Amino acid sequence: MGLTSDLRVLYNLAFTRVRGATHGERLETFYRAQAGDYDAFRRRLLHGREEMMAALDVPEGGKMLDVGGGTGYNAELLGDRLARLQSLRIIDLCPSLLATADERIRGNGWANVQTTLADATTYEPPDGPVDVVTFSYSLTMIPNWFQALERAYTALKLGGMIGVVDFYVSRKWPAPPMRRHSNFQRFFWPTWFGHDNVFPSPDHLPWLQSRFQTVKRDECLGKVPYLMLKAPYYIFLGRKA
Ligand SMILES: C[S@@+](CC[C@H](N)C(=O)[O-])C[C@H]1O[C@@H](n2cnc3c(N)ncnc32)[C@H](O)[C@@H]1O
Repeated sequence: MGLTSDLRVLYNLAFTRVRGATHGERLETFYRAQAGDYDAFRRRLLHGREEMMAALDVPEGGKMLDVGGGTGYNAELLGDRLARLQSLRIIDLCPSLLATADERIRGNGWANVQTTLADATTYEPPDGPVDVVTFSYSLTMIPNWFQALERAYTALKLGGMIGVVDFYVSRKWPAPPMRRHSNFQRFFWPTWFGHDNVFPSPDHLPWLQSRFQTVKRDECLGKVPYLMLKAPYYIFLGRKA
């Protein structure tokens, strides 16, 4: 932990060459060396996960999918509400991160949580529609994000809730009252994150707002460790109407 762990993560972010013929292989080469350090560093980089998870409506006996759930950190953020759920499935395409999630599940003795190695763009829940779907910082890593969202829409029950938190940039001329980012922000962040195959988009948030009934939309800035800049992120909660 601490500085050594941060240095390992920073080294991997800056120098690991992402290899692989498929998206899944590329994710695995990117994350394999940093899976053990993932949570400590991302806690300071991936802002808004706590707020998004706290605002989720988690029904008694409900079923939930955490798509691109990685190490399963979001399950902890549910706190006491986790026990209410019939099931929480953590869907991810990266075996190393899911191995950490499995350790977390075993360590906490969560009988209603399980991991599934699957692609968000093709995944269908095996036991029918669910009540809640979340994406935390995964949409920007899914090239066919629109297919993943279509899958999530189909997987949700009518009245079910979607929660998304992620990096983004605004459109050049966003529809009011949405925030407008400067030319520098709209150029810098996609370039900076693009190095690690993270693609902040001007289109995720408008897509979500057009498809779901908006319950909450926050557009914020979050500090990036070791960088004197703040990156734009949003929190979106919506319902399938
Ligand atoms: C930045 S991590 C976020 C992990 C976790 N949600 C969190 O908040 O810490 C992005 C995650 O998306 C997953 N991912 C990327 N593309 C995916 C896909 N097509 N299907 C499933 N998971 C995917 C990655 O493996 C990774 O775990």
